[in-house]
Formats: sequence, C-alpha cells, structure tokens
Amino acid sequence: MPKRLGILISGRGSNLQAIIDATADGRLDAVIAVVISNRPGAPGLERARAAGVETLVIDHTTFSSRSAFDRALVAELERRHVNLVCLAGFMRLLGSEIIDAFPNAILNIHPSLLPAFPGLDAQRQAWEHGVRVSGVTVHFVTKDLDAGPIVLQAAVPVRDDDTPETLAARILVEEHRTYPEAIARVLAGGWRIEGRRFTRPPTHPTNGVRSFDT
Ligand code: GAR
Repeated sequence: MPKRLGILISGRGSNLQAIIDATADGRLDAVIAVVISNRPGAPGLERARAAGVETLVIDHTTFSSRSAFDRALVAELERRHVNLVCLAGFMRLLGSEIIDAFPNAILNIHPSLLPAFPGLDAQRQAWEHGVRVSGVTVHFVTKDLDAGPIVLQAAVPVRDDDTPETLAARILVEEHRTYPEAIARVLAGGWRIEGRRFTRPPTHPTNGVRSFDT
C-alpha cells in the first residue's frame, strides 16, 4: 500500500507541486493525504486543490502557544494516518510535540548546503558570503533548526553575475528534482541513522569497487 504524505506549506508551493507531479508520474509511490498551510492565503493551497488533494489551514496566529499549534498539526496528521511529514517552504519552527509524534518521519528542504547558511533567506546569505558553490539539502527535522540528519544534497554553482534572485532560481530547479527523490529514498526504507549519518546498505554488488552515489 502506498505510504501517506502530509505536506506542510506556508507560501508559493512550488516544491509541493514537484511532489504532486512526482506522485502523478510514478516517480514517487505515495499518496498525498493532506496539505496543511499555516497561512490562509498561501498560493500553494490552490495547487493542492487543483490536484484534488485535501487542504487545511491551521493558522498559527489563532493559537495561544507554539505547542498548542503543534498539537493541532499532530491531530490532523494522525487523523489521516500520515506516515511521513514533508515541510515544503513551511516557515514555522516545530516543537517537541510534533517531532516526538513523528520520530525520523519529518523531512525539510532547505536552499543551501547545510550546515552552511541555516535559517531564513539562505540563498542571499550564501550570495553575500561569496561562496562559489551552494545548493539544496533535504534533511530530517530535529529540535535544532536546519540541523537534522541529511538525506540528500545537490550542489549548485554560484556565478559571477548572480544576484540572490538568480541564484535562488537555479537552486529551486535542483530543489524540485531533489525533494521527490529524497522522499522516495526515505519511503523505500532499509536505511539507518548512525549518529548524524543517514546510511543505506549497498543496493547492488560492488565487487570491491565503490560507485559514487550522491
Ligand atoms: C524553497 O526555496 C525552500 O527551500 C525554502 O522556501 C522556499 C519555498 O518555496 N525553505 C526554507 O527556506 C526553509 N528554511 P516553495 O513554497 O515554492 O516550495
């Protein structure tokens, strides 16, 4: 039976769209059980509706505390038997209520090569720092911001004539490719987390020769 995803958004929803597209064309064997936005006007909600996916708004401003908001998220996700929660441009910190309810089952996508440039506006941070390479990271969510075990990364060059906006656009292309692939890897199972390291056993005999696999 396909695994059930709960996707949390706050805005545009282009990564949500990439996940919708991957489930539609068979790259991702999963069902999107619900899309939840913490912002009532998030454009991503319309993308979900257009794909026939259930949407919910859980407006964080209507809750008296962070933990009450988190508990509301957990209740709705559990009600829909969600196996894996995917943050897709979800701009709220999650607390222990939801992290403990979904152990090693919450993913986030971040537009930098973590641990460089955590937090907001990562593409601008990278551009201002003058790095020559940045990229995208998909990682498990833990209590520390943008710091959980890394599932997948992809590098993106920074060009001399880049602006923060052109760099963000180049990174976004890689985000849309990377997130469905990372979700598929996690859903496929057979992995372990050793310390901070997400590890998978080899999928094919190596004959002593290690192939490079990002
Ligand atoms: C994406 O670039 C995502 O990596 C970033 O927000 C954007 C959301 O775009 N997330 C973070 O910065 C999380 N710290 P989208 O709504 O079009 O997917």
